[in-house]
Amino acid sequence: MSALDSAATAGFAKRFAGEPDGLWSAPGRVNLIGEHTDYNDGFVLPFAIDRRTVIALAARSDRLMRVASSFSDEIVEVSLDGLTPDMLAGWSAYPLGVAWALGEFGAPLSTVAGFDVYIVSDVPIGAGLSSSAAIESAIAVALNDVWGLGFDRRTLARVGQLAENRAVGAPTGIMDQSASLLGEKDSAVFLDCRTLESEVVPLGFDAAGLELLIIDTKVSHEHSTGGYASRRASCELGARLLGVDSLRDLGVVDLARAAELLDDETFRRVRHVITENQRVLDTVRTLRESGPSAIGALLDASHTSMRDDFEISVPELDLAVVAARGAGAVGARMTGGGFGGAAIALTPHELIPAVTAAVRSAFADAGFGAPDTFVVRAADGAGREG
Ligand code: GLA
Repeated sequence: MSALDSAATAGFAKRFAGEPDGLWSAPGRVNLIGEHTDYNDGFVLPFAIDRRTVIALAARSDRLMRVASSFSDEIVEVSLDGLTPDMLAGWSAYPLGVAWALGEFGAPLSTVAGFDVYIVSDVPIGAGLSSSAAIESAIAVALNDVWGLGFDRRTLARVGQLAENRAVGAPTGIMDQSASLLGEKDSAVFLDCRTLESEVVPLGFDAAGLELLIIDTKVSHEHSTGGYASRRASCELGARLLGVDSLRDLGVVDLARAAELLDDETFRRVRHVITENQRVLDTVRTLRESGPSAIGALLDASHTSMRDDFEISVPELDLAVVAARGAGAVGARMTGGGFGGAAIALTPHELIPAVTAAVRSAFADAGFGAPDTFVVRAADGAGREG
């Protein structure tokens, strides 16, 4: 039993005075490349990481759902009778939103049993590593088992996304839940967000002597307000003006026409998405043909595009990327939705201390708060623990 498993069992016993029926877990994710492409029906290449949420859950004999967690003292109680996303708020909207969303996909919510659940996690919150998708995916696999629903993982990813969209109120895409549910050790998930077809692509970091360093800037971000939604709206406007269902339907050959038809800002938003989709395809091909040491330029170009065209970076992320590259990272970029959160730096194993030190000293010189830095490895997706 891992330390998190033990903490989940002990926490459950303390809050609910009993034993859980089982433990389920789901990982956070990091996106290697393919940013703001998911809600444009495009391509993404995230992987599940070795930071997880573990939940201890027991079915009840009545219709009550009770949720507790290591990050809050409260026990939130909501009945399955008349459950709507509007009655959910705060951290418990993630797990309870999933229960509601399962119903939208056909789970017989009027007859299933309630449950007690206790949640623990070592996915850092606010770092852009999808701590929220980890909670949603863990609950989704657990209720899928306990309620005997038989949904496949693609469906469970859509359930998690619906919970995030409607119960939490963040207009996010399908990437995070897909990575958390479909991830495999040492591999990335190459996902076509239009068809939801996915392929596992071996990363080969170990054989190439590389590590993926996370630089959490500690600048907090929030996707239920502001910039994320406005970027999404710009993409939808661009698609409409260019006469396509989504930006996925356009390629680099369409950029000249887009430049003529669109205002400068909308054009740059569209150019980011079109070129980013191409970079995902190029990264998958490069990983397969030449290995991860050859993808640095693609990571760098992705960052430049997010900084200048999509305008979702912040000075801390830009500095992290420049400092990491300067100290020997093969490539670096901000990861996730932007406006804060983390950067990734693909770094030769022996240079991790030097890159870490360079980033820390650059932050200190700039007067920024100290970042958190740690290495992540590609891990298996959600499942039952015990
Ligand atoms: C957040 C969202 C994802 C995706 C990324 C940007 O992580 O949850 O759906 O849009 O931002 O790539």
